[in-house]
Amino acid sequence: MSSSSASQQSPPPPLGDTPRHVAVIMDGNGRWARRRGMPRVAGHRKGVERVRDLVVACGEHGIPYATVFAFSSENWRRPPQEVSLLKELFVTALEREVDKLHKNQVRFRVIGAVEAFGEELVRGIRAAEDLTRNNDKLTLTVAANYGGRWDIAQAAAALARQAQRGEISPDAITPDSLEPFLSLYGTPEPDLFIRTGGEQRVSNFLLWQLAYTELYFTPVLWPDFDRAQFEEALASFRGRQRRFGLTGEQIEARHA
Ligand code: IPE
Ligand code: IPE
Ligand code: MG
Repeated sequence: MSSSSASQQSPPPPLGDTPRHVAVIMDGNGRWARRRGMPRVAGHRKGVERVRDLVVACGEHGIPYATVFAFSSENWRRPPQEVSLLKELFVTALEREVDKLHKNQVRFRVIGAVEAFGEELVRGIRAAEDLTRNNDKLTLTVAANYGGRWDIAQAAAALARQAQRGEISPDAITPDSLEPFLSLYGTPEPDLFIRTGGEQRVSNFLLWQLAYTELYFTPVLWPDFDRAQFEEALASFRGRQRRFGLTGEQIEARHA
């Protein structure tokens, strides 16, 4: 039997280590703004600043991958005005931040069905991805018009096409066969998942990849999620024993 569905990946960090990959649901922007009597978009604007801080913090900790949820496939259901303001904010953030990311050796990448955002934004995204392609300090992946179910379904479609061409038999399909078609292929699975804003749910984020991720929920709203908050999340992660189905004794023997 194959030992894991993530055979492409190196072993996860041992106990006490820093995560290699942090995935974040940046929630609570709207509430942060409303509490101050401001329009929701003011919270989203503040939220962009916190992404900048997250990038710096990851760099300083030597965390090589960060993935942030910026817009879910379900967020289209929001009032059209908020959707279009979010899109504008994305365009502006791209224009303002990409050179800085590049200077800081950050590789920028977007996952999701971005075509839905229109040509201008897609061009901006592709240009930023091309510019930063060879940077290797930190890979910042932004999930936009992303949904975990969408990701699995598009991978299944690609696998079905492979089967149709006779390149793989349906009977031979395992989780490993699907993985190369998933958006984050080649990136280690998230070690630490952070959701701000108090809700304790995954909201269709990286469904496949979160199978063995350590989950961290905090009531702090994303615009208030500062460096100290991030350090708390890391401390929580360091205190956990990741067992991957083994017993605690087996894990302890490995680290002895
Ligand atoms: C998260 O903040 C950002 C996006 C979903 C784009 P919200 O806008 O969901 O903020 P709350 O949850 O309404 O406070
Ligand atoms: C999840 O937040 C999506 C993003 C942060 C982009 P939501 O605010 O959309 O999630 P729900 O609707 O509360 O589950
Ligand atoms: Mg929300």
